[in-house]
Amino acid sequence: MNNRKKVFVTREILPEGLEILRKNFDVDVWTEYAPPSKKIIKTRIKDADAILTMLSDKIDAEVINAAPKLKIIAQLAVGYDNIDLKTAKERGIYVTNTPDVLTDASADFSFAQMLAIARRVVEADKYVRAGKWEVAWHPSMMLGAPLRGTTLGIIGAGRIGQAMAKRGRGFDMNILYFNRSAKPEFEKECGAKRVDLDTLLKESDFVSIHVPLNDQTRSLINAEKLALMKKTAYLISNARGPVIEEKALYEALKNHQIAGAALDVFYTEPTPKDNPLLELDNIVVAPHISSANTATRARMSIMNAEDITAVLLGEKPKNIVVGNF
Ligand code: GLV
Ligand code: GLV
Repeated sequence: MNNRKKVFVTREILPEGLEILRKNFDVDVWTEYAPPSKKIIKTRIKDADAILTMLSDKIDAEVINAAPKLKIIAQLAVGYDNIDLKTAKERGIYVTNTPDVLTDASADFSFAQMLAIARRVVEADKYVRAGKWEVAWHPSMMLGAPLRGTTLGIIGAGRIGQAMAKRGRGFDMNILYFNRSAKPEFEKECGAKRVDLDTLLKESDFVSIHVPLNDQTRSLINAEKLALMKKTAYLISNARGPVIEEKALYEALKNHQIAGAALDVFYTEPTPKDNPLLELDNIVVAPHISSANTATRARMSIMNAEDITAVLLGEKPKNIVVGNF
């Protein structure tokens, strides 16, 4: 009889992680590009000891309770708002994630999107390809906004928010931040100043969001908050879609109440093709790819695999979200 423990992996992760898992366990990988349905997940984890999940898999009580032997849910992301932590805790199931390794990747992407919207990088690319470049050079062609000497407001000064601020510092930006707790080290390192949310929104030229999604942050940026921003300011987010009220953002962009926005996350993902935001010129968008560089995704897969291995061999995992039962 085969008594190797079973691991269900909900997507084809990078091979580095799979190799580790295959050393000790029977590994069942969902190899289709599109995610497995809830029904499929429930069937595949019936006798699984571990599941490796993506942020787009809804791991609610119904799913968790379909797996009586489950010991660990390892999430290939830093965020875990898709997982019912309460049920996991009640069942004594570990939940782990992949912090730290994706901090730089994520901040790189936010910064790239910030530069892209400020300097109209995507619009310029489309312009040339569309054959609209008919005058060689003009002093007012595609004017954008400078970074140097402007103010970058960081909402949520955790690992990624701080990494974003550091990059802003490198571009000689002034840093404001809004965070539940003060971050004295960060203040020293980046000359960052802690302010309340309204002050940050009023004074920043670029506002970048880096909070997790929870009851306190859902709809944090609504019409009233957007109205506080400068007409020349930009909003950037690769946090989670529901932190911003998309309809309010649409109105603010359409009415040029703010200058522009850059989003890697949406209210629903994939965002509907007819999302009105996509009709606007003053926004750049991406399909939730902030942590997507090869080295980072490989390391994320290794972290999940090592935590699953630890738990199934009776040890403590490293990156605990739920544990210490
Ligand atoms: C990405 O959004 C993550 O949470 O890792
Ligand atoms: C621009 O191309 C310049 O030479 O200033």
